[in-house]
Amino acid sequence: MEQQPVNVMEYEAIARTRMEASAYDYYAGAAGDERTLAENRRGFDRLLLRPRVLVDVSRVDTATTLLGESLALPILLAPTAFNRLAHPDGECAVVRAAGRAGTLLVASTIASCSVEEIAAAATGPLWFQLYVYKDRELTKALVARAEAAGCRALVLTVDTPRLGRRERDVRNGFVLPPHAAIRNFADVGRATEAGWTSGSSFFDYVFRLFDASLGWEAIDWLQSITRLPVLLKGILTPEDARLAADAGVAGIVVSNHGARQLDGVAATIDALPAIVGAVDGRLPVLLDGGIRRGTDVLKALALGARAVLIGRPYLWALAADGEAGVSRALALLRDELELAMALAGRPTIASIDASLVERGPFWL
Ligand SMILES: Cc1cc2nc3c(=O)[nH]c(=O)nc-3n(C[C@H](O)[C@H](O)[C@H](O)COP(=O)(O)O)c2cc1C
Repeated sequence: MEQQPVNVMEYEAIARTRMEASAYDYYAGAAGDERTLAENRRGFDRLLLRPRVLVDVSRVDTATTLLGESLALPILLAPTAFNRLAHPDGECAVVRAAGRAGTLLVASTIASCSVEEIAAAATGPLWFQLYVYKDRELTKALVARAEAAGCRALVLTVDTPRLGRRERDVRNGFVLPPHAAIRNFADVGRATEAGWTSGSSFFDYVFRLFDASLGWEAIDWLQSITRLPVLLKGILTPEDARLAADAGVAGIVVSNHGARQLDGVAATIDALPAIVGAVDGRLPVLLDGGIRRGTDVLKALALGARAVLIGRPYLWALAADGEAGVSRALALLRDELELAMALAGRPTIASIDASLVERGPFWL
C-alpha cells in the first residue's frame, strides 16, 4: 500500500476497491432508509467537548479494566459475521491484531472461523457472542465449546429475533460465498442446516433458525448453563437496562447493531445517558455504533460508557490490509484517543467525566 490511511475512515474507500460489491454492501449497509446509520454518527457530532487546561498531561494512560480484563485501551472489537468476506484469514487475523493492541475480540456465533480456530490464534482474552438457536441443544453445545476454547465472557445479542431488512442485500440478492461459510457448525453433522453457506438469503437463515420466542427467562437459562459472565448486547432503553440489571447480568452493550436491525431508533450515544442513569452503577455499560474517532470514544466514556466497541472500522482495515490493517486501525484510534485525552486535560480513563461534554447548538 503506498499511502497509509491517516484515520480509520480512509480504510473504507480502500476496502471498497478490494471487496466484491455485494460483500461491501453487506458490511456497509443498514436497515431500511439507513436513517439510524447516519444518526449514529450525527449523535457524536452534536456533542461538543469542554477541555480543561493546565492539567499535567505529560503522561497519558488509556489503560482500563473491564470485568476482570486488563485492557490497554477502552476499545473492544465488536462481533461481526463472516470476516472471510474481507480477507482469507478472517477472524483469526482480527483476534491476533486485537491481542497485539492489548484489547479483545468478541467472536461472533456466525463467524467464518470456528471459535476453536479463533481461540487458537488469540494472544489475549477472547469473548464469545451468542445467538440462541431454536435448537437449544445446539445452542448449549456452542456455549460449552466457547467455554472449553477459553472464552471469558458471553455476549448475548438480544436485538435479533429476526434479521433487519437491509435493502442493499435484498437488491443484490446477497448470498454467502462458500469461502465465508459459518464455521461453527461446519462439523456438527446433525446441524448442517445451521452451517448455511449458500442458496438462501441470510434473512431466511435467521428466520428459520434463531429463536424469536426468547424472553427474560432465557437469561436465567443461559446463566444456568454457563459459568461465564453474561452480557446483553442490543439494549436501547432504560426499562430494559433495569431488567438486565435485575436479571443479574454482568454488563450491557448499548447497541443498535450498527443500525442494521430496527431503522428509526436513536443514535446509541443519545440513548446512553438515560441508560447509565437507570442502572446507577449496578453493572458496566458498554456502547457501540458509529465510533470512528478517538474523540467519539472520549464522548462515550464521558457519558458513562466503561468501554466502546467498533465494528465496521476494523472490517474495512481487514479488507484493506489483513491483520496489519486491523493493527494499524487500532493504533490510529488509540493515538487519537490519547491525544484527545491530553488536549482535554484528562490524562487517565478515570479522570473522564460528564463535565467533559455538552450538547452543541440545536442546528448541529
Ligand atoms: C458486517 C457486520 C456484521 C455483524 N455481525 C454481527 C453478529 O454476528 N453479531 C452481533 O451481535 N452483531 C453483529 N454486528 C453488529 C456489531 O457487533 C456492532 O454492533 C456494530 O457493527 C457497531 O457499529 P459500527 O459498525 O458503526 O462500529 C455486525 C455488524 C456488521 C457491520
